[in-house]
Amino acid sequence: MNQDLTPLLEVARRYLDIDHAPFYMPGHKRGQGIDREFTTLMGETVFRLDLPELPELEAAVTEAELLAAEAYGSDRAWFLTNGSTCGLQAMLLATCRQGDKVLIGRNCHKAAIAGLVLNGATPIYLPTDYLPEFDLDLGVSPATLELFLQNHPDAKVVMLVSPNYFGVCGEIEKLVAIAHAFNIPLLVDAAHGAHLGFHPDLPISALQAGADLVVQSTHKVAGSLTQSSILHLQGNLIAQEDVDRALQILRSSSPNLLLLISLDVARRQMAVNGKKLLAETLKLAEEARSRLNQIPDLRTFSQVEVPSLDSTRLTVMVDRMGITGFEADVCLHSQLDVMAEMPTLNQLVFILSLGNTQSDIERLIHGFRQLNEEKGKRKKEKGKINYELRITNCQARLTPREAYLAESDRLPLHQAIGRISAESLCPYPPGIPLVCIGEEITIEVVEMLQCILRSGGIINGASDDSLKTIRVVK
Ligand SMILES: Cc1ncc(COP(=O)(O)O)c(C=O)c1O
Repeated sequence: MNQDLTPLLEVARRYLDIDHAPFYMPGHKRGQGIDREFTTLMGETVFRLDLPELPELEAAVTEAELLAAEAYGSDRAWFLTNGSTCGLQAMLLATCRQGDKVLIGRNCHKAAIAGLVLNGATPIYLPTDYLPEFDLDLGVSPATLELFLQNHPDAKVVMLVSPNYFGVCGEIEKLVAIAHAFNIPLLVDAAHGAHLGFHPDLPISALQAGADLVVQSTHKVAGSLTQSSILHLQGNLIAQEDVDRALQILRSSSPNLLLLISLDVARRQMAVNGKKLLAETLKLAEEARSRLNQIPDLRTFSQVEVPSLDSTRLTVMVDRMGITGFEADVCLHSQLDVMAEMPTLNQLVFILSLGNTQSDIERLIHGFRQLNEEKGKRKKEKGKINYELRITNCQARLTPREAYLAESDRLPLHQAIGRISAESLCPYPPGIPLVCIGEEITIEVVEMLQCILRSGGIINGASDDSLKTIRVVK
């Protein structure tokens, strides 16, 4: 196919020039009815492109999805305008029913747990490996997957995350081979991996490794607008019509054309210029890494220390600086105009992508030098927190769906220890539940939640924002 084509951009361009009386949705009628201050800020074109489901659109979406399937290496691609959240839920709804067993990495995103609420399947949580030196989740190892598949050969699907928030991709080829040896499809949350496969120095993508159903948040790293993602299918372990059926339930009947166009042009950019653009991003990331490593008490890690690492993802360890990642984040953001993607207790994660420039790197280095001068003298007193231990300790007592539908009570946090959680609580980002809905609340979870809140982190999923109380199954 000709990857230079952008069928959705072409449809939109044609409609921009057609003069007509609009008696259709959206109600702002090509921007004429929209708040003036907003139009002044945004310009008019953006609203003229916010069009409904035009007659030609269906064919253009089909063509754009075919181009995307070819570029990313799948048999079928679906454009999503509700993020990988929608994709993860569709994957689970398409492949499992109530009572089916799902082997799922315990480092999964909360959206996958929500998918289990929808389909009623029983999760068997797979523990992940952990690198204490960098407080780093390494994902599910091949040995763990093999062991669990031997113990649960009746599992319907396996769902894993690759890459994770830190860019760790794991041994994805081996994981695919193991799942397939048991004739079980592998679903991959590749929300952070839409750029993989477009440069030889990046780890291979889950699709190249042979995973069956893969979702990528094109918006996170590959140049499309926020909320736009792509769901990919390959092989014959999962039927296309099952995915279609799930998407019928989950997708909006009014997909945003701007988001669809942005997926189309992001695909062209990657397919045509991805290698060249990513080479520049990788160069910037390497430079940032080596300059940051020269600042006293700062550490980053490289592919040598963490195999299968996406080098465009930059994790900076601040634990030896005497501050938490949350404190470093506030300081960098409010005083030094550098904004990270994710703070944790010990780290700051920066996403480098096609849009970053040399001057961003200069600001990053300057920011950390300043931070080091101001904070370097104070050594951290708090002990390091073993994140992995905490998240794998929880016992699942009910399925997410059973817990969601059960009657629930609200209890003060400490009284909830030993009870079954009726909500999934996660530091956000990364959105990995410390306790999943249906799991037993442990003292470690309560301490971890309080520690994250005290350190300035954000907990998502709680019905009580202050987290003084928590909802438990009655
Ligand atoms: C690993 C992972 N999966 C899924 C999601 C959800 O993706 P989206 O924001 O595209 O809905 C996220 C969001 O950060 C994520 O980090």
